[in-house]
Amino acid sequence: MLPQLIKENGVFNLYVDGKPYIALAGEIHNSSSSDLDYMKQKVWPNLRGLHLNTVILPVYWELLEPKEGEFDFHIVDGIIEQAREENVRLVLLWFGLWKNGKSTYVPSWVKKDYKTYFRASYRNKETSDTISPLCEKAVNADASAFRQLMSHLKKIDGDQHTVIMVQVENEVGFLGSDRDYSDIANCEFNLPIPSEVKAAYERSGTWKEAFAGEAPEYFMAYHYARAVERIAKAGSDVYPIPMFVNAWLEQHPWNPGSYPSGGPIAKVMKMWKAVAPTICLYALDIYLSNFAEICEEYTAGNDNPLFIPEARRDIVSATNVFYAIGKHDALCFAPFGVEDFLDPSADVGAGVDLSILMALNIDSSGFNIKGTGTYLARSYELIGNMMGIIQKYRGTGKMTGFLQDQDRGCILSFSNYDLKISYTHRQEGKPISGGLVIELSRDKFILAGIGFNIEFLPKSGESSKVGYIRVEEGTFVHDKWIRGRVLNGDEASYRLGIGSNPGAICVEMYKYE
Ligand code: DGJ
Repeated sequence: MLPQLIKENGVFNLYVDGKPYIALAGEIHNSSSSDLDYMKQKVWPNLRGLHLNTVILPVYWELLEPKEGEFDFHIVDGIIEQAREENVRLVLLWFGLWKNGKSTYVPSWVKKDYKTYFRASYRNKETSDTISPLCEKAVNADASAFRQLMSHLKKIDGDQHTVIMVQVENEVGFLGSDRDYSDIANCEFNLPIPSEVKAAYERSGTWKEAFAGEAPEYFMAYHYARAVERIAKAGSDVYPIPMFVNAWLEQHPWNPGSYPSGGPIAKVMKMWKAVAPTICLYALDIYLSNFAEICEEYTAGNDNPLFIPEARRDIVSATNVFYAIGKHDALCFAPFGVEDFLDPSADVGAGVDLSILMALNIDSSGFNIKGTGTYLARSYELIGNMMGIIQKYRGTGKMTGFLQDQDRGCILSFSNYDLKISYTHRQEGKPISGGLVIELSRDKFILAGIGFNIEFLPKSGESSKVGYIRVEEGTFVHDKWIRGRVLNGDEASYRLGIGSNPGAICVEMYKYE
C-alpha cells in the first residue's frame, strides 16, 4: 500500500505501510543533500542522536536534469540508500522552478534561455529572478522533470516507501511585488476570472472587479496553484504518493510581495484548494514566535492537517512539538537545519548568516540553536515511544495540548475534572512550558511535556473534593508505561508537575465528599 493521507472520523491520518504515521522529523540545510559524501560525514552522524524517524531534504532540478532531457539520478539513489541504512523515512522537497519565491534551482539551460522561460516582472517592468508562473513552457519543463523523478522513485522505492511524501517546490510566490507585471500577466489580469475561481468564490468580472484591492495576490495564487497542480499531477499520475506545498507565512510588513505573493498562506488556501486538487495538504514554515496562533489559523475548520516541515531552530521547538501533536494532531514537526543541533563544532548561530535571515524576514532568535539538540532529542525520544498511544487518542477529543504564551497557565476541561496547569517561569537556556494531556479514563491521565505544575479540580459547581490515588513518574518504551518513582508526600502535595527536562507522569484521581 502506497503512503496515503486520509481523513477519517474527522481526523487526518497519514498511512505509511498501512499504519498511521507521525513524522518526528528534521529538515536539513538547503545544500546538504547535493553531496553524498557530505551527507555521510556531516549530516547523518549528527542526526543519529536526535531520535528522528523522518528526514526532510531537497532534490534539485539543476542536478537531476543538467542537460535538457538527460537525467542523473545518482544523488537520489544514494540518498535513499543512506536513509535506509539509517532506518529513517524521507520527505523530499522538489526544488524545481521555485524556491523561496525565486528560480535559483532551475538547470542552466533554463536559466540561460530566459526568452523562452520568461521571468515575472516588477511593476516598473524590470525582470525578476523568478520565472513567471504564467510561463507555460517553464511549467511544462518542470512537470516533465518531476514526472521523471516520480517515475524513478516508483522504480526504486515503490516497494519499500522510504520516501513517504513529496513537497512540490518550496515557499512559492512572487517576492518584491504584489504581482507579475509581464505583458502576458497584464493581459490575463484584465480578463474575467476563470470558472473554477468563479465557482469557489461566487464572484465574477475581472480580477479587479472580483477581488478589489486584493486582486494581485489572488491572481498570483491562482497562477501559482495552477502551475503547481500541473507539476504535481505529472508526478502523481505515475507515482501517487502524498504531495504538498509549504508557505512562507504572511508577516510584518504584511503586504504581498514582502512575503511571496500568491504562496499558499491561509488567506488564499481556498483558491489553492479549488485549483490544485493533487495537493493534499498545506504545510507551514513557522519561524514566528506566535506558534499556537499560527497552528490555530492553519487548522481552522478542520480542513487542513497540521504539518510543519520547517520550525524554529531555537529551544522552543522542544516544547512546541508536544503542543502541535497534543492539541492539533500534527502529522509532522521538523525544525530547520537539524544537522547542526548535535554537531559539536557548530556555533549557536550556525547554518545561516544574518543577511540571509534578514532577506527571509526571519528573526535571528529563531536560529539560536543553543541547547536545542539535547532537549529536542529527549522530546522526540519520549514522543516516539508513546506513538501508539498518541495514535489511539488522535481525534477522540481525549487528547489535548497547551503552550506557554503571555498567560501564567491555563485550565483544561476533562469529563470528570478540570486541570489547572501553571507554567514554570521562563528561564534563559530552558525550553518554555508546554505539553500534552491524554485522558485515559475518567480518573486516569497521562501528561507529557516540559516545565509545568498541575492541580486537578472538581468540575465547576461540584461540591466534592479531589485527591490522588496514585501519581507515577515514568516513561514509555514502545508504548508500555515504565514507572519510576511513585510520588506522594512532598513531591505530590506541593509541586506536582514536570521540570525543565521533557518527561511524563501518570496520574490516577478520585473524588470524595
Ligand atoms: C525557509 C526556506 O523554505 C528554507 O529553504 C530555508 O531557506 C530557510 N527559510 C532559512 O534558512
